[in-house]
Amino acid sequence: MLSILFYTLSLLATLVAASIQIVPGSTVTTAGTNQHMQAHGGGIVEVDNVFYQIGENKLNGSAFQSINCYSSTDLVQWTFVNELLTLQASGDLGPNRVVERPHVIYNDASSQYVMWMHIDNSSYGEARAGVATSSSICGDYTYLGASQPLGFQSRDLNVFKDTDGTAYLLTEDRANGLRIDLLSSDYLSVESATYLYAQDYEAPALYKDGSTYFMFASHESGWAPNDNIYCTATSLAGPWSAWADFATAGTNTFSSQTAAVVNINGVVMYQGDRWESANLMTSTYVWLPLTLSGTTATLHNEVNWILDISAGTWTTGPSETTPEAESSANSWAGGARILTCSACSNGSDIGYIGGPAPGGTLTFNGISSTVSTTTTIRIHHLNGDSTQRYANVVTNGVTKVVAFLPTTGGVPGTSILTVPLNSGTGNTIVFEAYDAGWAPDIDRLMVPVS
Ligand SMILES: *[C@@H]1O[C@H](CO)[C@@H](O)[C@H](O)[C@H]1NC(C)=O
Ligand SMILES: *[C@@H]1O[C@H](CO)[C@@H](O)[C@H](O)[C@H]1NC(C)=O
Ligand SMILES: *[C@@H]1O[C@H](CO)[C@@H](O)[C@H](O)[C@H]1NC(C)=O
Repeated sequence: MLSILFYTLSLLATLVAASIQIVPGSTVTTAGTNQHMQAHGGGIVEVDNVFYQIGENKLNGSAFQSINCYSSTDLVQWTFVNELLTLQASGDLGPNRVVERPHVIYNDASSQYVMWMHIDNSSYGEARAGVATSSSICGDYTYLGASQPLGFQSRDLNVFKDTDGTAYLLTEDRANGLRIDLLSSDYLSVESATYLYAQDYEAPALYKDGSTYFMFASHESGWAPNDNIYCTATSLAGPWSAWADFATAGTNTFSSQTAAVVNINGVVMYQGDRWESANLMTSTYVWLPLTLSGTTATLHNEVNWILDISAGTWTTGPSETTPEAESSANSWAGGARILTCSACSNGSDIGYIGGPAPGGTLTFNGISSTVSTTTTIRIHHLNGDSTQRYANVVTNGVTKVVAFLPTTGGVPGTSILTVPLNSGTGNTIVFEAYDAGWAPDIDRLMVPVS
């Protein structure tokens, strides 16, 4: 009886945890700043069951502003923790500098987190690799300097820590090709060349699956995505297999460029960047499940997916209801009104939400769920500004601030809201002003049924 109870409880726990979803390409509102996550070109490091996403802050364009660190326990709800490196008055981390692709590994002997990053000037003419250290993953890092590894150019880079603790720098050398270099035992300098791929590929990421090494990289096409490729070997020194696509050919890696490949309790996750060169801070994260089988890598495209971290499994998102903002079941007030929107579902949306007091409001009535659960709702919105808009979103009386990235060409974008819903059809979700600002126009919601 007791064991049945425990079984039922754990099954319930699984169900309850199971609706939190990763939504590639969406605005990711982070607690602590209420802004879209600014940690581009980086990757996740797990420390004591907490996940840390470390990457570039692009809020103010391409020039270096800071390297940011965010934390999460579910990979969906993120909290800003710290700027690991900040803008200096001059030098490598000064104004108008390039500081890209920060990646961190832990050195067991020195108990230091070691960050490697691409250091450059604004015309990418220096091509150096920089290094910084900290005694805590999300603490302040001490910048130690930059150099050309073994005298070669170095732009896009990454690091790889092998299962025996040996670490390597992956570095793009425009004159010769993509390199794997052995790091010193303290990980602070480059010791020797391990392998040189004749092809000049960039955005490298290395992953070890059993005894097989998978090297991922992209072709070079600037900020625009291309069909990224991978190859395999049983030794880092080679021989390496021929390069092949790992996402559906012609999709440009589902419109992304490799940043990292990480293991989340057995689930291999690809982390890509969907760069938006016209407004880099609106770049989004394309995190997708990657199947490695033998020497084959296959990336799965998902609109939304569930990573059950404790079980080490993933599934596609549940089926959804798709309530329209302008549905007659809803209500709007305070100046909010129906607008024509050709790219919106049902041809219209609700605009003039928020704004100066009293401000427009939109209330979704009768939002349904078959279970009481915390779930991730996708919000289709339009924001014609060049900066983020925000809304207070009140779900069954509980308020959350949600950010909405700019959208282009009148095509709705997606932001996400992770909130508890009650079982039944009695849930209400209200959009209203945050700080007297205008909220985006709202097209519709996509609400998981379970
Ligand atoms: C943004 O970057 C520009 C150019 O580097 C600089 O002049 C400006 O002060 C920066 N703004 C902020 C808010 O950091
Ligand atoms: C960047 O560095 C290279 C190499 O030192 C130099 O030739 C180039 O003029 C620099 N560009 C800028 C914008 O300072
Ligand atoms: C479509 O929009 C009209 C208003 O333009 C609204 O009355 C109707 O309820 C909407 N349809 C759905 C399915 O929400």
